[in-house]
Amino acid sequence: MSLKAIPLTNAPFGATIQLPQDATDPSLLGQEDFDLLEKALHTYKVIVIPDQKNLSPRSQYVLTTRFDETCDKEGKSYGHGKTFRHKDSVLKKDGHTVPSQPQVQIIGNGHWEEDNGLKDFDLTQPSQRTFHKDTLTDEQTAAGQTRFYRWHIDSALYELSPPKCTTLLGIHVPGADEQQKIVYEDTKEEFSLTKGATAFISGAIAFNLLSKGDQELAMNTTVVYAPHPYIFIGRSKATSDGLTMVSEGKELSFDELPEWEESKVKKLPLVWTDPITGEHSLQVHGCCIFNLVRNKTGERLGLEESRQEVYRLMRPAIAPKHVYAHSWTAGDLVLFSNRQLWHSVTGEFSKDDKRLMHQCNIASGEDPVCEGHPVASDIKVRNV
Ligand SMILES: [Fe+2]
Repeated sequence: MSLKAIPLTNAPFGATIQLPQDATDPSLLGQEDFDLLEKALHTYKVIVIPDQKNLSPRSQYVLTTRFDETCDKEGKSYGHGKTFRHKDSVLKKDGHTVPSQPQVQIIGNGHWEEDNGLKDFDLTQPSQRTFHKDTLTDEQTAAGQTRFYRWHIDSALYELSPPKCTTLLGIHVPGADEQQKIVYEDTKEEFSLTKGATAFISGAIAFNLLSKGDQELAMNTTVVYAPHPYIFIGRSKATSDGLTMVSEGKELSFDELPEWEESKVKKLPLVWTDPITGEHSLQVHGCCIFNLVRNKTGERLGLEESRQEVYRLMRPAIAPKHVYAHSWTAGDLVLFSNRQLWHSVTGEFSKDDKRLMHQCNIASGEDPVCEGHPVASDIKVRNV
């Protein structure tokens, strides 16, 4: 029996993978089965291989690199590069590195005695508490409310190209009976999910929700990301739905950033074409953008206006019916197509709550493209 993908029911996308009968370690799949796995990844975007609790960081790393021939398989670098845990970065607290396999990150919550050679360490689940401008009140969290923390694509968005695949292994996770909910501030809709669920949006659904005019406009728009974007927004706060930042002029000036150079600033299309399915996805990290540039006219939108514009394009796609929130079972290995999705952490954890995951993604050797719509290559990032 060869590898099989079983589409999820009652979800907008996603599939469960049944490995071939004799296979236990998915990094060792034969080429034919791996090709089926890769096709499933691009077709269903989020695929789940159950019962992988003992998958080694080495195997997770090898499996992750198989999805991208252009990534640096010899390098020690995780998808985020050198400034990942810079003191001013909004990512500084997001996890630890597996000592024997530095491309794999340990993320989660609570105190841990040992994991793969790392001893006596603490993990903190990212939360709206420290990132959103208006946070949930104690009463709201006590009543089980959480938020989409930050909708994003895994990527350094400076110097390095976005990884093609991220793998997430759930080792210790809250039980499915621990439910929380997201209340949408604008529509008052409610979305129930398991505590710590990982939420996903399909960029293709987001693109297809746009009017024909907006699709055309989006395909002809270049996103200019800020230099060292996670440090650039280090003092800023996000909107309550995690889609973008609130514009209060708190961004660091370019002079305050670590050294940067124009050639490393990312200028990516707003719409990415998947090389396997041919689908167009609306793909933008709304928190890290600096400018939008209209390719046909050269019109350049300022920081605040760019945030408003991506918000306008993105907001319809996060309606409850379009969200897939993966409810974790220990041993789930979730693989997601990072260039076809946006994802977000959810869940409010107290200090003693326990959660342990292994995450891996590797920067690609090539940027995504919107087929037939080259980016405006001659633009330079400007100071605020
Ligand atoms: Fe992520």
